[in-house]
Amino acid sequence: MLEVVALIFLFILIQFYTLPPIFMLFLVILFLPSLYQGFLNAPFVPFPNSNLDKIFNTLNQNFKLKNKTFVDLGCGDARALIKANKFGMISSGFEISYLTYLFAKYKTLKFENLKVNYGNFWNVELSEYDFIYIFMQKKPMQEFYEKKWPKLKKGQVVISAAFRMHGLKPTIQENGYYIYVK
Ligand SMILES: C[S@@+](CC[C@H](N)C(=O)[O-])C[C@H]1O[C@@H](n2cnc3c(N)ncnc32)[C@H](O)[C@@H]1O
Repeated sequence: MLEVVALIFLFILIQFYTLPPIFMLFLVILFLPSLYQGFLNAPFVPFPNSNLDKIFNTLNQNFKLKNKTFVDLGCGDARALIKANKFGMISSGFEISYLTYLFAKYKTLKFENLKVNYGNFWNVELSEYDFIYIFMQKKPMQEFYEKKWPKLKKGQVVISAAFRMHGLKPTIQENGYYIYVK
């Protein structure tokens, strides 16, 4: 999403200035993976803070959160990581959009036990996380169910915002999110 804004800005800029082709090539190479992944999985559309509060209140009522590990797959502006951090969780996020990653990194500079990583979440080893949060479109959620869910360990918790994993009964189902305990 931020890349789209940046590309529009760049397009306007090249109407007035001549930018070196190597610079243009660099930007295309930098932005291409995130544009592609954003299209495939989900662009940067942040989950509303009020809904995240509901998720964390539900989690807090049903599980022990302090010192547990939390990961956000496609962490956007790191808002879920910050909420997790407030509940004493050790949180990590993975973000493929470079501009969004930089923004999330900047936003979380002062936080301890919170790490924002640049990378593709499909390559992330999930076994080390107690809580896995994901807000993706319908198709990648189904892909997650087929490829990642079978490899999770007993007791790991998946929180899916907006879209459910079809074929799997949620342990907790609320309006707008689904919680699954493996
Ligand atoms: C719908 S937003 C969710 C943002 C955040 N998790 C939230 O709940 O507010 C999806 C985010 O995932 C990122 N994303 C999409 N595909 C990804 C991938 N393969 N690896 C890492 N991040 C990805 C997008 O760039 C975007 O920031």
